Amino acid sequence: MSEELFEPHNIIVTGGCGFIGSNFVRWVAENHPECHVTVLDKLTYAGNPDNIAGLPESQVELVVGDVCDAALLDRLVPGHDAIVHYAAESHNDNSILDPEPFVQTNVVGTYRLLQAARKHDVRYHHISTDEVYGDLALDEPRRFRPDDPYKPSSPYSSTKASSDLLVRAWHRTYGVRATISNCSNNYGPYQHVEKFIPRQITSILCGIRPKLYGDGRNVRDWIHTEDHSRAVWDILTKGHMGETYLIGADGEKDNIHVLQAILERMGQPADAFDWVRDRPGHDRRYAIDPTKLETELGWKPIHTDFSEGLDQTVEWYRSHEDWWRPAKEATEKKYAAQGQ
Ligand code: NAD
Ligand code: DAU
Repeated sequence: MSEELFEPHNIIVTGGCGFIGSNFVRWVAENHPECHVTVLDKLTYAGNPDNIAGLPESQVELVVGDVCDAALLDRLVPGHDAIVHYAAESHNDNSILDPEPFVQTNVVGTYRLLQAARKHDVRYHHISTDEVYGDLALDEPRRFRPDDPYKPSSPYSSTKASSDLLVRAWHRTYGVRATISNCSNNYGPYQHVEKFIPRQITSILCGIRPKLYGDGRNVRDWIHTEDHSRAVWDILTKGHMGETYLIGADGEKDNIHVLQAILERMGQPADAFDWVRDRPGHDRRYAIDPTKLETELGWKPIHTDFSEGLDQTVEWYRSHEDWWRPAKEATEKKYAAQGQ
């Protein structure tokens, strides 16, 4: 276990043009100007270079490429002191339709990055999800803890669980200086319109009725993406090698309440939505116990008022139609084809 503070000066952030990765890049640019960031992103449907537009060129550089490309990694990684790996296929519904890119990017991509980190002796931080632990019953008092067994339900979460296990093995067998964080559901600016909160806000703005899966009682543990970024920085700089940290902000809410909070904010009646078919294998409830992160690394969320965070998020989508509009039609077409 390393007790030393790690001071990153030149990091690679994979997936830095996606939702959470770009929020992290912008947070680092603002809070740690001493740290240069190389974003490695394939620019899939979920990656948008506009998400990091306007940041100082001397501090943030974009390299368009695939994390599965070993030759590219061999050229790119030397000279950097850390890799923070966000890149992934991230959407459960897509993974049910076509799991192939999930296996490729999430499993093979992580393997290639670990090999590069090992070869070039670079610190590695792995971004993962609470979904690796499966789900909880609605009435269960228990929350996820770092040593819980892995029980992923979907093709997406099983590929994330696989990638976490690779990280654990590369640390133990090859001594790669690695940490893992498993975070709950993020919300905030720059989230793709396929995801729950942005989908509903942008649908209302387009005059489309929001869609609720199943009985609407599934619970997600919401955290503002800025609190996720702050936690990742703390783990990168102060985390103990080989350890897993769970990131969550006591934000449990069921889907119907989140949807009705959005409808209310946007001047719609509480029943102005459609019930649609449930997601196959739909996880019931996620809930994070963040005690280890709070006690060992001193992290605490600052966005503790979900209502205020939701106000800001609705406002962000209202004022950034140019950003989300190009993806909206194709996303809704895909959902309609699957009855959702
Ligand atoms: P996202 O789908 O918005 O962005 C993913 C990014 O990765 C995109 O920019 C995309 O172009 C890039 N990418 C995809 N395949 C790539 C490849 N082969 N090579 C290089 N780049 C590639 O995802 P997100 O919601 O921001 O999630 C980011 C990470 O955080 C993922 O690892 C996800 O599992 C994890 N996570 C997400 C949440 C959440 O609530 N969204 C919660 C916990 C953990
Ligand atoms: O828990 C962390 C995970 O959170 C991340 O690992 C994933 O990358 C991220 O996508 C998210 O997964 P979810 O499946 O929980 O998020 P999603 O936004 O797809 O759905 C949230 C909940 O809302 C879920 O219970 C399904 C439901 N839902 C979703 C959509 C898009 C609806 O009821 N209607 C919808 O239109």
